[in-house]
Amino acid sequence: MKMKILMVSPECAPFSKVGGLADMVSSLSKEFAKKGCDVKVFTPLYSTIKGKENFTKEMDNLSVHMGLGIEEFTSVWTTQLGGASVKFLEFNKYYDRPGIYNYGAVSYEDNGGRFAFLSRAALEYCISTGWYPDVIHCHDWTTGLIPVYLNTTLRHSPLGRCATVFTIHNLQHQGIFDKGVLEYAGIPSSEFRADSCEAYGSLNMMKAGLYNCTKITTVSPTYANEIKTSQFGCGLESLLRFRAGDLIGILNGVDLEDWNPKTDKFIAKNYSVSDMKGKAVCKKALQERMGLEVSDKKPLFGVVSRLFDQKGLDLLARIAQPLVDNMDIQLAVLGSGETWLEDSFKNLTASNSGKIASYIGYDNELSHMIEAGADFFLMPSRFEPCGLNQMYSMIYGTLPIVRSTGGLADTVSQYVEGSGKGEGFRFSDATADALYNTIGWACATWYDRPDDIKTMRRNAMTRDFSWLASSDKYEQVYKWAVGTRSSAF
Ligand code: ADP
Ligand code: GLC
Repeated sequence: MKMKILMVSPECAPFSKVGGLADMVSSLSKEFAKKGCDVKVFTPLYSTIKGKENFTKEMDNLSVHMGLGIEEFTSVWTTQLGGASVKFLEFNKYYDRPGIYNYGAVSYEDNGGRFAFLSRAALEYCISTGWYPDVIHCHDWTTGLIPVYLNTTLRHSPLGRCATVFTIHNLQHQGIFDKGVLEYAGIPSSEFRADSCEAYGSLNMMKAGLYNCTKITTVSPTYANEIKTSQFGCGLESLLRFRAGDLIGILNGVDLEDWNPKTDKFIAKNYSVSDMKGKAVCKKALQERMGLEVSDKKPLFGVVSRLFDQKGLDLLARIAQPLVDNMDIQLAVLGSGETWLEDSFKNLTASNSGKIASYIGYDNELSHMIEAGADFFLMPSRFEPCGLNQMYSMIYGTLPIVRSTGGLADTVSQYVEGSGKGEGFRFSDATADALYNTIGWACATWYDRPDDIKTMRRNAMTRDFSWLASSDKYEQVYKWAVGTRSSAF
């Protein structure tokens, strides 16, 4: 029998997106729909979502019972996403805001309540429609209370038998709030203890999910190992070691309908591994669009990223000036995040016209143009649970330069000088020097060993990053979770 799967997520591409979580939820849902499963994605109807006029109203009186005797009335809208059905929770008090988690640099102070509400509403939706999934797939801290409801107040309801799979996309954000959020959520105060929802005197929604779910996944095998150490575990390493037998790392795939140089509608000319002429056209288009000197002689390094500590782009900002002074390279940066880092790239652009270009903001079209038009792609991340852009880059024949961590280590294999083996350039130390030297290595390879660059491009473009293998692994995890949960009754 085909499984019934409920994905609960704060983001779902193309409707709402801050980072790769949105892509992952959307692609995985579509993959399971292709397998014939009944897949529903439950996510907020943010007021910023475009195309709402095409959604259909499914319910206009879903009542959501929170703690403290609070009952709220919400609506649910629906649309299709490649065979999966997306359910949008409309509740303006929480989701009619300019941002998903924050406004500018400031997180919404009621985020605990906003996402406890999403979790509770997803379960109420199942109860009121009588649709009971086999598996509820939870994504990051925002959905951490779902497994707690299923183990406590809803344990003896028909939903209590549902298995939960909790995916860690990024352990750095844990959803730490005052204990009052647990009361608002309607979860018994007895759960406010170190082996459930409490950490250091506060509610920790990530921890709550990790303790209470049936199985845990994260988005690469290396990150699955890293998070069991104090260096990467963000304080939850002993819990993750305790649950190691239920934890597995599965690499994200790439949605080849969106990211494919043969069909990409955002790039100047399509190309493929057997006909690379279009890549040079894309490089010229990118140089023109970003105000870089138009030249096919200089290696062009691209960045598309959130500009936060995780991504290590402060290291790049520190060496960008000597890079363009000492090596004949160009740099194209697209990103947004920390104001000081945004300002650094703006200043570097202003004083290096034609050599460094930056666009501070979010721009999907430009991100495709950079993947296609750049020669190299920079990801010096301090940690990277999976990372999608290094895979997009390889598909576009743009060689990634990455720090060996998490999913970057699992997906990019190191160049072997003189042989053209590998698809990228890796380094270990999270230092500006290591990044500088690795960019120097790539630059020297570009000028001195062009045949190796060609071979590496071919290697990169023929890698298989489709979701097929990974969705099969998720299917095994779902079955494993269903088996474990049912044996607990
Ligand atoms: P993370 O989720 O940690 O940000 P990923 O590499 O998994 O990292 O995913 C990032 C996703 O967000 C990619 O699809 C990338 O293209 C996109 N992205 C990040 N910053 C921008 C931006 N400024 N403009 C357009 N797309 C962006
Ligand atoms: C997180 C991680 C990123 C990962 C993405 C999707 O945002 O930072 O590495 O690719 O989730 O799983």
